[in-house]
Amino acid sequence: MVLDAYERLVVVSNRTPTGIEGGATRSEGQRTAGGLVSALYPALQKRGGLWFGWSGRATRRQAHAPPHLVRHGGIQFATIDLSEEEINDFYAGFCNRALWPLFHCFPSRVRLRREEYRAYRRVNRTFATQLFPLLKAGDAVWVHDYHLIPLGTELRRLGWKGRLGFFLHTPFPPVDILTILPFASQLLADLNAYEVLGFHTQRYRQNCVDALCSELGGTFDGQAYHSEGGAVRCGVYAIGTDPTTFARWAMSTQAEMQSKRLRRSVRGRRIVLGVDRLDYTKGIPERLLAFERLLERYPAWQRRVSLIQISAPSRTRVPEYIEQKREVDRLVGAINGRFSEEDWVPIRYLYRTYSQEELAAFYREADVCIVTPLRDGMNLVAKEYVASQTADPGVLVLSRFCGAAEELREAVIVNPYDVDGMADDLKRALEMPLAERQERWQALIKRVCAVTAQTWCEQFLADLTSAP
Ligand code: F6P
Repeated sequence: MVLDAYERLVVVSNRTPTGIEGGATRSEGQRTAGGLVSALYPALQKRGGLWFGWSGRATRRQAHAPPHLVRHGGIQFATIDLSEEEINDFYAGFCNRALWPLFHCFPSRVRLRREEYRAYRRVNRTFATQLFPLLKAGDAVWVHDYHLIPLGTELRRLGWKGRLGFFLHTPFPPVDILTILPFASQLLADLNAYEVLGFHTQRYRQNCVDALCSELGGTFDGQAYHSEGGAVRCGVYAIGTDPTTFARWAMSTQAEMQSKRLRRSVRGRRIVLGVDRLDYTKGIPERLLAFERLLERYPAWQRRVSLIQISAPSRTRVPEYIEQKREVDRLVGAINGRFSEEDWVPIRYLYRTYSQEELAAFYREADVCIVTPLRDGMNLVAKEYVASQTADPGVLVLSRFCGAAEELREAVIVNPYDVDGMADDLKRALEMPLAERQERWQALIKRVCAVTAQTWCEQFLADLTSAP
């Protein structure tokens, strides 16, 4: 039994839900949650343990004060503040202007600065020095995402000998893209500090193993990477959602009232729904153009359908995100200006954050959910939408370039770069007969219920605790 194999689970991630439960305000936490927090939080709530990360706040102090400790339910949160400079260089800089575009295969957006890389390593060292005194023998330490790749090395340097695993929530790029980064070999070497490395899909794991073998030497036996430094297990663990909770939220009286209001507000027209953080990897402009193309090529759909695009503000101090917002604002204005009638606005654009419970009501009512990232590690919106459908299910339109497409094969799979093709697929989704919708959804919901946040967590921890 996994839970008996270690005494306490210690999760480390840059972002924690303390904004939701503790230190900062509720809206801050919700605004920035993202897939990592929404999957880990329920899983950790069931097990209890320690969650360590950045508080989301800036401090003026140069030296780091000890972590803020907040207990909520069975979880002990320990968070540290970062200085303005660290937030700029580590988070907004190296993490989100170098690693993020690189891992999502946008090499032309990668911006390299030596001082930002130094800040990245420094902040990882700070995380390790602040976390190490809180660790106890018997803990299993699970590190999350690209912000913290060197954390394992730093913890080992301080003397941590216990279990140590790492999960990457983004794609892992092919070696030719990864090695654009002058520090690629160093980051690959950092991966050797862990006993288990986890990825969402076979392809990401393969890319990582190829990079390890070609840049550092060593071999892969199908399960573990072997080098002079020892063996590191490399596994595939698809992240999921909590389908039972989403189904409950979607069926609640509150969701029913919210859905009715929504349907009335579009005057009974069909609803296409998009839900994303406002990020250039999400393909929002391409989706807006596809919707415009639908109205242009199939005028019978004018006045009969509305696109509701929910975009949660994200990384608002990073210039590429400011630019993306401008572009989305411009496109929404142009398309609405071109097609709106006195009693119909084709695109409703909601630049704000909704709670997951509120989103369930949108999912329930949407005839089509359009999830079309240009590249995405997994994408939980796709799974949440499926979980929120019932007897008269809507249609999921899904990009082939997100991790979820490896599992959710009964969705309408599209190429988000092909705007004309997406317009045709949208039409097909809007016109799909009930029997086909039901058949697809039944296959999809089985998959969504088989791979959940809980199974993801259990399988990773089972491998971490059984690793030699
Ligand atoms: O899922 C990838 C991820 O970067 C998470 O690590 C993160 O919590 C989420 O997206 C939201 O991003 P941010 O923490 O930068 O707001």
